[in-house]
Amino acid sequence: MSAEAPQPRYAILHSPACTAIWELPEGEAPLWRYWGPRLPDGVTPGAALRSTRPEPSFSLHFDQPLSLFPGLGLGWFGQSALLAHRAGQDWAQAITGCRVEQPAPDTLRFLMADAVADIAITLSARLDPSSDVLTLSTTLTNTGDKILDIQWLAAGSVPLPEDALAVHSFAGRHNAEFVPVKDPLTRSLWRRENRRGLTSHDCFPGALVTCADGTAYGAQLAWSGNHAQQIEWVEDGRHHWQMGEWLAPGEVRLAPGESLITPEMLATCSAQGANGVAQAFHRAIRANIRWPGGTMKPRPVHLNTWEGFYFDHDEAALKDLATAAAAIGIERFVLDDGWFAGRHDDTSSLGDWWPDMGKYPKGLAPLAEHVVGLGMEFGLWVEPEMINPASDLYRAHPDWALHIAGRPLLSARNQLVLDLTRPEVADYLYGKIAPLLESLPIAYLKWDHNRDLTHAGQTPLYRRQVLAAYALMDRLTATFPHVEIEACAGGGGRIDAGIAAHSHRFWASDCIDAIERVRIQRGFLQFMPPEVMGSHVGACPAHSTGRMQAMDFRCGVALPGHFGVELDVRLLGEAERAELAAAIARYKALRTRLHHGLLWQGEATDGVVWQAHGSATSLLLLITRTRPTTQRHQPRLRLPMLHPDRRYRIHTEAADVWEVDGAWAIRSGLPLPPMRGEEVQVWQIEAI
Ligand code: DGJ
Repeated sequence: MSAEAPQPRYAILHSPACTAIWELPEGEAPLWRYWGPRLPDGVTPGAALRSTRPEPSFSLHFDQPLSLFPGLGLGWFGQSALLAHRAGQDWAQAITGCRVEQPAPDTLRFLMADAVADIAITLSARLDPSSDVLTLSTTLTNTGDKILDIQWLAAGSVPLPEDALAVHSFAGRHNAEFVPVKDPLTRSLWRRENRRGLTSHDCFPGALVTCADGTAYGAQLAWSGNHAQQIEWVEDGRHHWQMGEWLAPGEVRLAPGESLITPEMLATCSAQGANGVAQAFHRAIRANIRWPGGTMKPRPVHLNTWEGFYFDHDEAALKDLATAAAAIGIERFVLDDGWFAGRHDDTSSLGDWWPDMGKYPKGLAPLAEHVVGLGMEFGLWVEPEMINPASDLYRAHPDWALHIAGRPLLSARNQLVLDLTRPEVADYLYGKIAPLLESLPIAYLKWDHNRDLTHAGQTPLYRRQVLAAYALMDRLTATFPHVEIEACAGGGGRIDAGIAAHSHRFWASDCIDAIERVRIQRGFLQFMPPEVMGSHVGACPAHSTGRMQAMDFRCGVALPGHFGVELDVRLLGEAERAELAAAIARYKALRTRLHHGLLWQGEATDGVVWQAHGSATSLLLLITRTRPTTQRHQPRLRLPMLHPDRRYRIHTEAADVWEVDGAWAIRSGLPLPPMRGEEVQVWQIEAI
């Protein structure tokens, strides 16, 4: 490297905790030089990357490092950002020119083109100073004169440092979301794909990468459909993390002049590890939620009728339930599945969105007004994207169900999926749901989606179906801006940052077993803030597992999220009902602290996990024992977020008050009292 080598141009974004740097060589895609914890202002990599890399043996003379938009067939041998062709032509791509615009201090726009393959790419990168999240998205335009078939277009990609050790992703199934999967990062390709047409229970569109030095990287795709993410070793020892929509063959065929816009990839990193990553994601998701009235009101306590009543709606009993619910402090009554015409089990009626006159002879108004009269909000369950073959809608429009000519239909839960991309279908649904919102005091829709997509159109329409669902939600909330939406798909089948911008709560799982919920919620909270995590107190035994858990444990586990109750409170004994009422009162007293601050999660070994909400000077600490101890003495609990030079006062669950030095609590840990096999304790920790 000669001393007088010209300094390359760089594009640099900083946020309080992160820095991204790209080198801008002439006539090429920007090269990824750095993505990681914050570097000082004014820092640059100095010499051009290539000048620091002698040519290895048996290599091309043209050195092609990792770029922001890696190509195919022209010197880059790793995963490319694009797989596309024009009837077999123009399959090899490389960027031939790039211009950089800075439309805002935190945003860069890389305007790239391949003048040979006739494509234009705009890659937008925003490193938000208020969240520390780098949002990447790509728009590809076909500037040629023939159709361009796209098989893959990455939303974005980020490099991972040489000491990246493991990727933590999530598997699962209905009733068992957020099953952690840890894979070592090696020289083998790591890839997760989802082709179920919606976000899925078994493949959350995001992950966490941990490094040897304690730094963690996170990324998630803001998309509620098919997706793919991959991490591949790069020949300089780094790894390369790419994310995007998984596209079916023929799904995207761009006519001349047409563009494909990817979903957004949200990426962040933190020297504080997984908790720093979670906190950044929480800030970003919070900023994107469109709350009625502009700000989030305290999350109201729910009563959901599903597990208490299932399909057996009886108006008088539901009114009684509402009265009993209001008496223990419930604030929103959500009438779940079973209210609409002919819906007595899961074999029929999806699509027929008007009240069942047998169950509700005067419609839903008497019940809704009873609920509102008790001072609660009224919410209603819908599953707009679905249709049962046994329904008036199907009898009138069998062709509205997604199908492929010559292929037998495949039902799941006895239902098919509507083709929401047809304007007449979206209009029908709007035309049925809007009058309900107009005529009834409905403040909330629980929006369900209880099957995977198959037969997704004669030509694949997966992505358009997702966009159509977002559009229908937006159309309804534009007309009825006071209405909140809960995203549910058989529990947690549609939890992602894409739908978070169109909804206000996630139903995290159909499994309300509190022990299972500990795992589910910890995974959820890695990517989403607690106030959008629907967390209910269910019945005992738990319907999904048959396991028995004490009321205080069920309430403790549900406490940090958007709290709710999903059982027939009328059936509780006096003591249990009083316990539940006390838990509701405690939630109301604590929800502001639980839902606005930072969140840390950790493990204290021996079956004890913890989470802390607030700030380094004022914390609510939730300590959860998930199984009986196997130790003679309890483990200690170390709290890394405290200030080492402050002293803290601790109020324990047992109303003990004691003091501890921050440094001691960080390094040695807090002593824990004996806890039952399943128990949650809530402590308050204040800096003195
Ligand atoms: C699946 C949801 O996750 C449940 O909470 C409930 O709403 C049922 N669907 C109703 O069919």
